[in-house]
Amino acid sequence: MKITVVGTGYVGLVSGVCYAELGHSVICVDKDPMKVATLQNGEIPIYEPGLQELSVRNSELGRLRFTASLGDAVKGVDLIVIAVGTPPLPSGEANLAYIELAAQEIADAMEGHPVVAIKSTVPVGTNEKVRDLIRARTDCPFDSVSLPEFLREGSAVSDTMNPDRIVIGTESPRAEALLRELHARLDCAFAVTDIRSAEMIKYASNAFLATKISFINEIANICEKVGADVTRVAEGMGYDKRIGASFLKAGIGYGGSCFPKDTQALIQIAGHVDYEFKLLRSVVEVNQDQRFNVIRKLEAIFGELRGRTIAVWGLAFKPETDDVREAPAQEIIGELLARGVEVRAYDPIAMDNFRSTFGSGDGGVTWCESALDAATDSDAVCLLTEWKEFGQMDLQQLRGVVREPVLIDGRNAFDEADLQDTDFIYYSVGRPS
Ligand code: UGA
Repeated sequence: MKITVVGTGYVGLVSGVCYAELGHSVICVDKDPMKVATLQNGEIPIYEPGLQELSVRNSELGRLRFTASLGDAVKGVDLIVIAVGTPPLPSGEANLAYIELAAQEIADAMEGHPVVAIKSTVPVGTNEKVRDLIRARTDCPFDSVSLPEFLREGSAVSDTMNPDRIVIGTESPRAEALLRELHARLDCAFAVTDIRSAEMIKYASNAFLATKISFINEIANICEKVGADVTRVAEGMGYDKRIGASFLKAGIGYGGSCFPKDTQALIQIAGHVDYEFKLLRSVVEVNQDQRFNVIRKLEAIFGELRGRTIAVWGLAFKPETDDVREAPAQEIIGELLARGVEVRAYDPIAMDNFRSTFGSGDGGVTWCESALDAATDSDAVCLLTEWKEFGQMDLQQLRGVVREPVLIDGRNAFDEADLQDTDFIYYSVGRPS
């Protein structure tokens, strides 16, 4: 099958590379010629385990190409996948400008009878709008499909190669057959729906997962007050298949480019049809507040924080990614600085990204070479991202460098047993301290 993927962000690049790995002939298009040159050189502009090897291998096999020329890339292909960004507008709504631009260029260049699928996360009704936009510009026949994506950053390749389900939203049996053939080598369920339901499945899935996280975080907050252990509670709940064990890890709340954006967008989508999504509003509110528990715990120990030195371990929104978008670390560090704290920050992969997005407000932050370097002479260590190396830290060694033995574990990366034989004051999330 000949496929063109438009947009080489997380979703587009991983999908394109994985389609090539499935044996298809793939062209990935991006407007940015520098990015295209990087990809043509066998380099990957994002940190995503396993992606570079697959990209290089499939390029060498002649199944994967990168180009900046969308017009040439869409001629004579079976499937065009739109995977450009839909960043949030200040109102929380998805910005569809990139989708519309891509659709116009596709309409002006396509030939034959391709299937045009939208993989970007878009509000309900967008696929129909894009279909009408293309129809208005060309007589070339095509079939529209909503093809939402469920990969997670950090495990994107394995999620794409081992999906739980493929959702295909289309009215066209021909398009459904093509999409089934595209994924034929994958062992998973197919959910074939109308276009609007497929669009909604994406938002509803992310909103539900975000709800699970905010739910367990509130349970954790109550556990702290009643002397229960949220990890044991989550385990006990998770054995119930109706609940499921995943996404019940309490912490400092969800971040990233998806949950914060998609929950806000779904609240907006509901608002446009005069429906107030009360539950999801609370999910967002709980998430926003949860991160500040780190500061509350520091203040419970020290009172005034001014003049203290605090180490921050972890800047990425989760481990195994260099993505810092909506990472809780952004606001936590901002609040610490506002309270007159000297921050010593470290992340194994996301330092550069964090520094560039944190901008000029970083006076008062020392960017450190290692976790131990960050902890040196600090009054407290705050763990914000559960990178493996943090949980494996030798606590005796850590004790040797810190000024005060205080450890605030925002992700429950340590166990009580790890803390035995140390004099650390240890606060985690939802567990007796
Ligand atoms: C999420 C979804 O999991 C994917 O299915 C979806 O395709 C993607 O959004 C998207 O819409 O593109 P992602 O944002 O990459 O994927 O990362 P997750 O692993 O879902 O984690 C999101 C956030 O939730 C992280 O900040 C993580 O620390 C937090 N989280 C996750 C918890 O606090 N507790 C948990 O139990 C699980």
